[in-house]
Amino acid sequence: MVSKQKEATSYYDSFSNLYDWLSPKWYYHEARAYAIQQLHLDEATTVLNLPCGTGQNFEYFQKYMNGSGLVIGIDLSEGMLEKAIKKKNENNWSNIKIINEDATQIRLPWIKENIGESFQVNAIFCDLGLSGFPDWKRVIDNLLSILSPGGRLVIMDWYIPKPTLRGRFVKWIGKGEVDRPIYQYLENQVANFKVNTSFNRGNVFVAIGVTK
Ligand SMILES: C[S@@+](CC[C@H](N)C(=O)[O-])C[C@H]1O[C@@H](n2cnc3c(N)ncnc32)[C@H](O)[C@@H]1O
Repeated sequence: MVSKQKEATSYYDSFSNLYDWLSPKWYYHEARAYAIQQLHLDEATTVLNLPCGTGQNFEYFQKYMNGSGLVIGIDLSEGMLEKAIKKKNENNWSNIKIINEDATQIRLPWIKENIGESFQVNAIFCDLGLSGFPDWKRVIDNLLSILSPGGRLVIMDWYIPKPTLRGRFVKWIGKGEVDRPIYQYLENQVANFKVNTSFNRGNVFVAIGVTK
């Protein structure tokens, strides 16, 4: 039997050619710009973006990082990553490292093995991922465990707790859930928790937490 995860990955492989058309920059611009500002990036930051998809965040990161520091973009779909690599190459963004990996594997041993023994991850941006990942609470716990002291985790995702037409559409096109209590879970795991639920007519939130 094909797992739900395999189905989602092959869906995103096929969908990758259309992704930037069907999910254009303007659609999440307000939420993304706010979320990325909350990461407190600068030219010395190491930021991890999971899932990085087609690399829509890269240009926002560079606004603060100017080609310095390190951006680690992780996704499980080869098709989505091909688009991300194209953006990186076309813009000569040499501070971006793109890796094909499953979100559930991103833990401290993985960072040590793939990025370096003494590496410090200062910020993590998890956008439109936790609504689809299996075992999403553990992914949040793991992400917090790899952040350096005082590091920031910023999450942007959907939250539509009651069934609506829009919720059904988002679930269908994104192959995820829209009613997971993601920011409510984050609130109990971090210091300086903050959430803004005002994006995309109140259906998209940006939540911020700092490691305890
Ligand atoms: C809705 S897209 C979001 C992409 C990007 N963050 C954005 O906002 O444009 C969801 C992404 O999650 C990726 N994905 C799904 N399951 C994953 C997993 N277990 N590990 C890593 N990436 C995964 C998909 O390949 C897809 O690129």
